[in-house]
Amino acid sequence: MKKYNMREMVFWFVFLASSFLNNAGVTGQSANTGFVNIDCGLPANSSYKDANSTLTYISDAQFIDTGTNHNISVEYITPTLSPHYLNVRSFDTGVQNCYTIKSLEAGLKYLVRATFLYGNYDGLNKEVIFDLHIGVNYWKTVNISDPGKTTIAEVMFVAPVDYIQVCLVNTGSGTPFISSLDLRPIKSSLYPAANSSQSLALVRRLNAGPTDSTIVRYPDDPHDRMWEPWSNVPYWTEITTTSQIQNFPNDLFEAPSAVLQTAVTPVNSSEIQFFWEVDPLDKDPRYMANLHISELMQLTENQTREFNITLNDVMWYNKSFSPDYLYSDAIYGLRPFNGFQRYNVSLTATANSTLPPILNAVELFIVLPVSAIPTDSGDVSAINAIKSSYQIDKNWNGDPCAPKTYAWEGLNCSYVVSDSPRITVLNLASSGLSGEITNAFANLKALQTLDLSYNNLSGSIPDVLSQLPSLSVLDLTGNNLNGSIPAGLLKKSQDGSLTLRVGNNVNLCSDGNSCNQSKKKSNNSTIAIAIIVPIVVVVILAAVGILIIYKYKKRPGSSMNTTVNPNNTGFSTGTSTVDSSIKLENRQFTYNELKQITHNFQREIGRGGFGIVYSGLVDGTQVAVKVQRNTSTKEAKEFMVEAQHLTKIHHKNLVSLIGYCKDENCFALVLEYMSEGSLEDHLRGRASGTWPLTWRDRIRIAFESAQGLEYLHKGCNPPLIHRDVKPNNILLNARLEAKIADFGMSKAFNSNNDTHISTNHVVGTHGYVDPEYHMTYQLTEKSDVYSFGVVLLQIVTGQPAVIQGTGPESGVTTLIQWVRQRLARGNIENVVDARMQGDYDINSIWKAADVALKCTAQSGTQRPTMSEVVVQLKECIELEAAAAGRNSNGNYYSGNSSNGTSENYCMDPRNFSQNSTREMEQHPGTIPMVSGPVAR
Ligand SMILES: *[C@@H]1O[C@H](CO)[C@@H](O)[C@H](O)[C@H]1NC(C)=O
Ligand SMILES: *[C@@H]1O[C@H](CO)[C@@H](O)[C@H](O)[C@H]1NC(C)=O
Ligand SMILES: *[C@@H]1O[C@H](CO)[C@@H](O)[C@H](O)[C@H]1NC(C)=O
Ligand SMILES: *[C@@H]1O[C@H](CO)[C@@H](O)[C@H](O)[C@H]1NC(C)=O
Ligand SMILES: *[C@@H]1O[C@H](CO)[C@@H](O)[C@H](O)[C@H]1NC(C)=O
Ligand SMILES: *[C@@H]1O[C@H](CO)[C@@H](O)[C@H](O)[C@H]1NC(C)=O
Repeated sequence: MKKYNMREMVFWFVFLASSFLNNAGVTGQSANTGFVNIDCGLPANSSYKDANSTLTYISDAQFIDTGTNHNISVEYITPTLSPHYLNVRSFDTGVQNCYTIKSLEAGLKYLVRATFLYGNYDGLNKEVIFDLHIGVNYWKTVNISDPGKTTIAEVMFVAPVDYIQVCLVNTGSGTPFISSLDLRPIKSSLYPAANSSQSLALVRRLNAGPTDSTIVRYPDDPHDRMWEPWSNVPYWTEITTTSQIQNFPNDLFEAPSAVLQTAVTPVNSSEIQFFWEVDPLDKDPRYMANLHISELMQLTENQTREFNITLNDVMWYNKSFSPDYLYSDAIYGLRPFNGFQRYNVSLTATANSTLPPILNAVELFIVLPVSAIPTDSGDVSAINAIKSSYQIDKNWNGDPCAPKTYAWEGLNCSYVVSDSPRITVLNLASSGLSGEITNAFANLKALQTLDLSYNNLSGSIPDVLSQLPSLSVLDLTGNNLNGSIPAGLLKKSQDGSLTLRVGNNVNLCSDGNSCNQSKKKSNNSTIAIAIIVPIVVVVILAAVGILIIYKYKKRPGSSMNTTVNPNNTGFSTGTSTVDSSIKLENRQFTYNELKQITHNFQREIGRGGFGIVYSGLVDGTQVAVKVQRNTSTKEAKEFMVEAQHLTKIHHKNLVSLIGYCKDENCFALVLEYMSEGSLEDHLRGRASGTWPLTWRDRIRIAFESAQGLEYLHKGCNPPLIHRDVKPNNILLNARLEAKIADFGMSKAFNSNNDTHISTNHVVGTHGYVDPEYHMTYQLTEKSDVYSFGVVLLQIVTGQPAVIQGTGPESGVTTLIQWVRQRLARGNIENVVDARMQGDYDINSIWKAADVALKCTAQSGTQRPTMSEVVVQLKECIELEAAAAGRNSNGNYYSGNSSNGTSENYCMDPRNFSQNSTREMEQHPGTIPMVSGPVAR
């Protein structure tokens, strides 16, 4: 008797949409633009066309500069072996060696595939195990035990930056090697489980009932996934059709017809069973699986194919299932599942079914958290420029700072949660550098310590080093530098902000003036000392004076990381929180430039009260262009208010302004592009191809939005009241990071003598307007707090701000009343958004609801400040995080679960059968976990 202990709830639902049947189109073969096909170990500059895939493979030489090429041993070469397996690149030096593929687009989805065939290329015939990293995150452990077996590793991910590195990490069990590397762009709407916070590492992609033993890939699969043959003779038999299988419109997987045209059904049984077991190399992996099922037979009226699908004896899908004829149905997981050693899947015909179950293909993935962020891109390009200009002889491979354990030798980095690491210390002492000091050092903007001592550096010291804002130690001791010390550095060292060491540079003059004339000053050292000493004293005295003046001019005390803007017009800038993704200057554009930027206003991406929003490109960066053409004076004024505010405000949780246009006939703002639309779209399920937001996402979005508002209130001087806080004005970028938008109605007010401003009409959106403001026209920061409270309630409940009741509750109520009434009855599960499927920590959600209700107190004085809200929401995040850890250790979650009418089905853990051992009537198929098919 076996007692199952389901640790994670599993939710399954079916992508089936019979109503789409009539207007479904045939999937065309998409162009293979953006494919990168790399044959690792191929001699530089060579390429060939692979006959089976028709794709051209090129040498890997331009993607990596370490490793050596080898041919595999002849006994492993067979006529049908794909040519990319014939040679490998191996890495016997360095802990990690990385391929860098450029020209990706940050925020878009990609598939990367690496293949491996050892083929005894080194004559050692040894087992080898090593790790793969995708970017700065762990991807997979590759275990090569059979020299003749091919291994395929694949991962689907959202690119955090515009390049991707694939790193092979030596873990002490043999020399890493690789046969090929492919990159494929994937439409963002496909495989929605791959997003900016998690990637999908492929375990197996299996084509059930194949007609031959070849792998289906491009051109049969336009996305060039590799579908491996899978059968279980004699227990399964194959069934095929020559008709095309169509994808539904908005199909989430677009499984290719060539794969779906073949399927299996059981022999002498009404059940298809298969299982997989956890690979001991993976520690409690979190799985996601897709079952692709299409009906291949035209059923007569008295025929039915209907079956139940179970995972470890629990229903995956709440109803019995009948696939559509020649359409690509898929059953897939909404959430990962884990906690078992073995996963048994069965498809069992129901009593009414006249036909056995059918299965066309299976995909199985392990969900990988995206836990690390790559180093700041400015730092990366600077350090790479330094690396190449000195041919630095260190194993500098992969990302400089991340993951922390593989940070480059000689670097120290700062790691801040949810921000890119920065290089703070660069130690290249005694590293054999020669030539001049490159200006690239000055692009390491967060550098605090630069040690270039005891090298062979010549030329003069570049003045640009004095522009490094945080540089506090510069050691140039023991080089061949000449000229004088630049004024900027001298000044910093004099005012004490920089420790400057320049000893042992015979041609360097320590004082600026007499430098050009006196080359040989060793003749009369006593005179030199006599002259230098008084100068030094004067300089020190001057430095003290400068220091005092600086002290007085320094920023006023501020707890918010803000500094006063030098050209202060009443606003301040949070320099330390400037979003690094947009580095463009604020610019004024002409109407004609706007036309260029937007390709003649070609692609509309939204419409608001303000006007139409178009997509555009500025310097290769995607932007949103908000255009208002026929502008009234009032609107023009509002517009300029927004432009002025935005140009002066930079915070990672506020939408950045890149530029604006102010022609006679055009008012437009050029804004940071927020690819995932508004929080409103997500809460109301309007964002296409996305899952309902999880509680973890929601509470983080709330926290980030609160930080944006806190910044407007506390970080700006005078404070800014947003006045129209609502989910429509909270935008999400590709990483689902929240930023507050639309300062059009913001209005500065002076907080020094007034605690509020009065306006003669109420501004804002119905349902969000502070009642106190409504009555008194007195606007304070607490009005934003009120509106934010309503937003937070929406985040918890998924309800609109104003609810039209039904039945006995007919009539209009505000969301606040609706929640208060229900919570008065004591049950939070009555108000929580059912689309979260009960997947949240109850304490976290209670706390968030409590904060929201405090924010929406009638009287402003009873409401918390945004700073207090930020602190409370941070605690909600911590509660949720702690609970997630606990659940995976075996605690049940007992929450509200299935809802009869919903397509989404939640398994209720209380319903699990206690004695679920069951005789297997036939041999189930297996999903092999370790190596791929034998190379033929
Ligand atoms: C490859 O081509 C580049 C440019 O055409 C050339 O500089 C390089 O020497 C070539 N490498 C080899 C190994 O032929
Ligand atoms: C691999 O084999 C090819 C011919 O089959 C040969 O030209 C090439 O030099 C070999 N490469 C290595 C690294 O041995
Ligand atoms: C390539 O195509 C040929 C002919 O269709 C087939 O025999 C061979 O097995 C294929 N090779 C691979 C690696 O799929
Ligand atoms: C199903 O109906 C067809 C006629 O439409 C008939 O020939 C056949 O025998 C029926 N089969 C069964 C199992 O009832
Ligand atoms: C299939 O599922 C339905 C609905 O849950 C259930 O009533 C039925 O007994 C199941 N049939 C089998 C054969 O498991
Ligand atoms: C079986 O068919 C009968 C008649 O069509 C129907 O009433 C019943 O609900 C079906 N049972 C299941 C489990 O689908």
